[in-house]
Amino acid sequence: MKVSLGPLPLAIPLPAFLVASYDTDGKPNAMTAAWGGVLCAEPPCLGVAVRQSRWTHAGILKHGAFTVNIPKAGQAKEADFLGMYSGKNRDKLAQASLTPVKSELVDAPYIEECPVQVECKLEKTVELGSHTLFVGQVMDVKANAHVLTGGEIDVSKVDPLIYGPNNLYYQLGPFVAKAFSVGKALK
Ligand SMILES: Cc1cc2nc3c(=O)[nH]c(=O)nc-3n(C[C@H](O)[C@H](O)[C@H](O)COP(=O)(O)O)c2cc1C
Repeated sequence: MKVSLGPLPLAIPLPAFLVASYDTDGKPNAMTAAWGGVLCAEPPCLGVAVRQSRWTHAGILKHGAFTVNIPKAGQAKEADFLGMYSGKNRDKLAQASLTPVKSELVDAPYIEECPVQVECKLEKTVELGSHTLFVGQVMDVKANAHVLTGGEIDVSKVDPLIYGPNNLYYQLGPFVAKAFSVGKALK
């Protein structure tokens, strides 16, 4: 039996992106965003949905750039903090002992302590209602060397923080099967 839960904005799981930008005064800031993901391959694009009231919203519009930083499961406290308080009147990154690093490619900082970051140039904004979809063209992806295996990002080494319904954070589970491969068994 299926139970209807109504028209919720649901996807499972969700990322816990740390979206970093310079604010309208040029101060580095970051907020947590679970509503976002990959949108296009050519050109490579990522999207994040940001409510108009967020301080980050104005910063991204002013500087035309943002970075998406992937936190480790061990950074749940920092991610939650960035997602509960506004950078309008405080230096959230300093308070969370996170280091903003100036990107050489886009007008936005990235967060040194996160194992992976995606540097995006704002390509398009789409007003959806409560949230603006910021579509960023990926200019570079940076990763700490220790999360790579054979030059590729190894998700088990990243050990990303994952977000789910009901305001809960999770950690990645075990490897299940190889994609574009296991399904061939049903061919
Ligand atoms: C787990 C989590 C996920 C969130 N996802 C989003 C999101 O996708 N979009 C959004 O606008 N706000 C989201 N928020 C809320 C913002 O991160 C929060 O309002 C933050 O304080 C905004 O910071 P700012 O005012 O410095 O930009 C989320 C918060 C948490 C804790």
